Amino acid sequence: MIFPSRARMFARKSIERLVVEAEGGSRLRRELGARALVFLGTGATIGAGIYVLAGKAAREDAGPALMLSFILAAIGCAFAALCFSELASMVPVSGSVYTYAYATLGELPAWGVGWLLILEYSVSAAAVAQGWSSYFNELLKSATGFSIDPRLLSAPWDFDYATSGFVAVEAKRRLVDGTMISSSAWLNLPAFIITAIVTAVIVRGIRESARFNGAILILNFLIIALVVCLGVFAIDPRNWRPFFHPERGWGGVASGASYIFFAYVGFDATATYAEEARNPRRDVPIGIIGSLIICTLIYVVMTGVLTGMVPSSRIDVDAPFAAAFRAHGLNRASSLIAVGVLAATTNVVLVGILSQARIFLAMARDGLLPSSIFGAIHPKTQIPLRSTLLIGLFVGAAAALAPLGLLAKLVDIGVLFLFVVVCVVVWILRIAQPEARRSFRTPFLPVVATCGILINGYLMFSLDVRLWIGLGVWLAIGFLIYLAGAARRSESV
Ligand code: ALA
Repeated sequence: MIFPSRARMFARKSIERLVVEAEGGSRLRRELGARALVFLGTGATIGAGIYVLAGKAAREDAGPALMLSFILAAIGCAFAALCFSELASMVPVSGSVYTYAYATLGELPAWGVGWLLILEYSVSAAAVAQGWSSYFNELLKSATGFSIDPRLLSAPWDFDYATSGFVAVEAKRRLVDGTMISSSAWLNLPAFIITAIVTAVIVRGIRESARFNGAILILNFLIIALVVCLGVFAIDPRNWRPFFHPERGWGGVASGASYIFFAYVGFDATATYAEEARNPRRDVPIGIIGSLIICTLIYVVMTGVLTGMVPSSRIDVDAPFAAAFRAHGLNRASSLIAVGVLAATTNVVLVGILSQARIFLAMARDGLLPSSIFGAIHPKTQIPLRSTLLIGLFVGAAAALAPLGLLAKLVDIGVLFLFVVVCVVVWILRIAQPEARRSFRTPFLPVVATCGILINGYLMFSLDVRLWIGLGVWLAIGFLIYLAGAARRSESV
């Protein structure tokens, strides 16, 4: 292990150098227009969060005012999105906030940011793939009566948040003679398979990935539209009164916002496609802000329908939408929701792996990761092929075998922290490089950045203290890896 000099750890790269390095050598193919970018951001964002977390948040935290929680979380995201947009219009390379941090804070903080982005993209993709697996099994069971062997539906271990310990997962199954037995789970096979399928799509090229994401997203939009139209007729406005949770009041709106924050994770993925955008300085900001607006509208409408259909105290916490429709005898709509969840979560896994490979590409160019694996671009498809395959394998293995419960909980705090970093960094650059070219300027920057820091910081502080400890441990592991190899590698670049 080497201890790099202070100068090394805080060495920065100018924006001009970052752009020149991204343009030199082999390059990614510029295929994406504004619509594809909005769709990729939206595909990365709408997933298990709205379909699953809304139930518990409405029931235990906010009641019908969960609509306000979604708006509160969206306001925090919007301040970050405006800051992201200015940075993306200045530094149109694939590293997103990792690269912005390299330009302003230096190598070690940038490494920390890159390390946190693994939570946002790879860990959330693997966790969402595990959620995909249980919805797939439920849908299979209701459509065909066939159910997958429970030993193939879960990783062998999980993290029990209540006791803060790891527990072996027991799978219960019925033998042919009708007796129930319990044995250890082996692996989550459907989670591995869906990860392998999306990886196979990604390696075909960025255009194919964007098309696949677009097709699935349109299917998801249609399902959401149908579900909302059907649900509207089942609304009883009395369910919206009282509007706030009777015991939690406004406090519940804030805790609800931090609980559902996961639903917003991903819209900033658009920034990682800057090198594949035809007109990145204009279209990446459109992609970031556009996808946030679309997701917010969808979330508020869906929450309004859910809380209007069922009294908040009786909302199902595991499958809130499906249960609400079943309670009104709308069983077909409930199956449709399961298809919607599968579609949405497929896209989250796809965009997670896609974005992770672009972040690693930027890190490899700076020498922080092995260039022969993460920096190599395939001459024909012009994507980081080796890196994509490796990330796909890693995400698939984690989804199949790892107890992701704890790491998945760190995603929210990690992303909120990144949003705070983005608000700080854009301000630093405005002061340090006022003359740099910006095709998008965050309006009222001091106000927007301060509000972004305060709201996202406040949501971080509303999270459990154990998550703060978890975040510290995650960053400490990252720091050790930096000392063990990354720093030495970057010195030779
Ligand atoms: N926002 C994504 C989801 O809700 C990660 O699944």
